[in-house]
Formats: sequence, C-alpha cells, structure tokens
Amino acid sequence: MILFQAISREVREVIVAVGCDHAGFVLKHAVVSFLEKRAEIADCGVSSEERADYPDIALRAAKLVSEEKADLGVLACGTGIGMAMAANKVKGVRAGVACDALTAKLGKEHNNLNVLCLGGRLTAPEQTAPILEAWLGASFMGGRHLVRIDKIAAAENATLSVNGEGRGRIVVFNHPLVQHKIGIIRDKNTSVKEFRELVQEIAGLMVYEITRNLPLSEVRVETPVAEATARTLAGKKLAVVPVLRAGLGMVDGILQIIPNAKVGHIGLYRNPETLDPVEYYCKLPQDIGERDIFILDPMLATGGSAAAAISLVKARGGQKISLVCLIAAPEGIAKVSEAHPEVDIFIAAVDSHLNSHGYIVPGLGDAGDRLFGTK
Ligand code: RB5
Repeated sequence: MILFQAISREVREVIVAVGCDHAGFVLKHAVVSFLEKRAEIADCGVSSEERADYPDIALRAAKLVSEEKADLGVLACGTGIGMAMAANKVKGVRAGVACDALTAKLGKEHNNLNVLCLGGRLTAPEQTAPILEAWLGASFMGGRHLVRIDKIAAAENATLSVNGEGRGRIVVFNHPLVQHKIGIIRDKNTSVKEFRELVQEIAGLMVYEITRNLPLSEVRVETPVAEATARTLAGKKLAVVPVLRAGLGMVDGILQIIPNAKVGHIGLYRNPETLDPVEYYCKLPQDIGERDIFILDPMLATGGSAAAAISLVKARGGQKISLVCLIAAPEGIAKVSEAHPEVDIFIAAVDSHLNSHGYIVPGLGDAGDRLFGTK
C-alpha cells in the first residue's frame, strides 16, 4: 500500500486524465473508483456504453498529459491497443498496454509509461486495482532505459517538428543527400580534404531548414515580361557562432547561402578536474541581441559544451538561439533540451549512444582532428 500513501500525501498535486470508449466503459468505472480518493481526475469521457471512437478520447487525454495539464493518463478500450496507438501520436506521451501487475510495473520501470492503457475485454474490473497499484508504485529506472526512450523522443521530434513554429524544436534531417554525405564522413578512410568539403556541403544543405521560419515581406519587381509581387527576406539579422575548433568547419558552407550573416566565435576547454566547460574565448557581433543566432558544433556528445556555449551567448544578450550539429547522441540532445528548452536543435543524424570516453557511437571520431588533419 505504498502507492496509497504516496498519492494521498500529494493528493492535490496528482491529476490523472481518465478516458474510455464503449468497450472500456466498465473498466473506466473501476479505474475511477480506485483513483478518485487518491488523485484529481480529469474525465475525458465517455460516460455511457454508446459506441465511441477511441482516438477521440485517447487524443483528448494524451493532450492533457502532453501539455502538463495532467500528470498521468489511464485509458481503457476493448484491448487497450487502439488507445495506446492514438495516445502515442501526441508528443511526450509514452502509452502502453498493461494486462497485469507485472506489465504495469515494468512499463513504468523500463518505459516510463505516463499513460497506461487497459483492455476491457482482457482485464476484469477487480484486476484494475493491483495493476494501477503496481504502475503507480514503481519508479522509472533511468540509465540504459533512458537512452532508449530518448531515442523514441528523438524520432518523435524529427517527424513532428520540422515545420513547427514554436521554439524548442528538435529537427533531424532525413534528406537523402544529407544522409549520403553523413555516411561518407563517418568512413574513417575519407581524406581530410574530402571530409572538410563534405562538412561544408552538409552545413550548407542544413541552411534550408534552419532558416525556414525567417519572415518575408513583399516587394514589387519588374520582370522582363510584367510587373510582379515578389518576396524578400524582411531585413533579418543573422549570426553564426562556431564553437572552436570543429564548428569552424561548418561556417563557410553556411555563409555560401547566407553571406551577410555575421560570425562570432566561442572557445571552450574542459577543466581536467571538474570536466566542466570553461570559456577561453568569446567574440560576438555587438548587436547579438537583435540577431537570429546559429551556434555551430558538429558533434553533440554529452551536450556539456553546447549547453555552455548557449549559456555564454545568452549571457552576452543573445535571445533567439538555435544549435546546429551534424551528429548527436540522445544524451546530448536531452542535456541541451533540458538546460535550454526554448533552443531549436538542428541535427543531420542522431546516433545510438556515447561510449565510456564520451565519443558518439558510431559517430565519426573527433570532428576537429578529422577536419584539420591533426591525428
Ligand atoms: C471497439 O470495438 C474496439 O475496437 C476498441 O475498443 C479497441 O479495442 C481498439 O483497440
């Protein structure tokens, strides 16, 4: 009964979105009976056994969880499967079906399920309490399980956000040309010359997405045939800020497309004792606060130096900041997103994990050494 104590201590803080379709209606009743004294319930319907489409209810509840208007969700349909499928389309939701206390417990410990789905045709109402108890009483184990769910989050962000308007997007480039060129620079036999050229090319290709939201205004032009309304960049000021030294490898590729951007530089080294990044150089355009800033750092590994570079730019007045990387590890994405949730992160490829030396696996080795031939 640890769960009951935990929930009742925080009775006003835990909000659970609960919903069902006709096939989960009886089970929802059991869920509500279990939860009502222990949490605040956000009822997402339905309230009768009249036929209903489970996606409508699942999406309503999942949205509450995604927008942090509810802490958790519990959904019931015939099998729980349809509810899970629909809820998982909503960003930040991790929904899964539990059919007994063990799947519920492991669903929390390994998958950090924030929406539990139950099957009214699989689970008897009296089984609801032990299932919910097991789920709510368990804790996410983190570690390798975090790496795995971070990969799912990265895929989710890649597909959801490329055209988004808000800040804090994680955009992964699935474009075949980018993927092809990334494949070549991964190869340890690629020469320094070719590596350098390809890094510039990839950075240049990435400009199309990183500048997608620049505002346009209309101008009148006269073509050889007629007068027309055309579109022009609305006087945006841009700055690219490479993190020394590997970020330098991306600058020219970007300037080929946006030649009027100003260039700042940031130098960081790692304190050998604390391993914290320490600034040794920072020179930014004076009007940095008015510019859209693209911080360039090809390898987003632990995220420590990227997060520090962003903090440095913010401390100098930078406001609208994006991070542009070639290859990222889920650990680095998580670190930067947590430290700077409003910063857009543009990534050509997301890799598996970091090894014990902090290298991205499979990655491409040390980008600085490969760009400048220092190894
Ligand atoms: C409704 O008959 C049923 O298909 C639905 O409740 C659910 O089981 C879908 O996954």
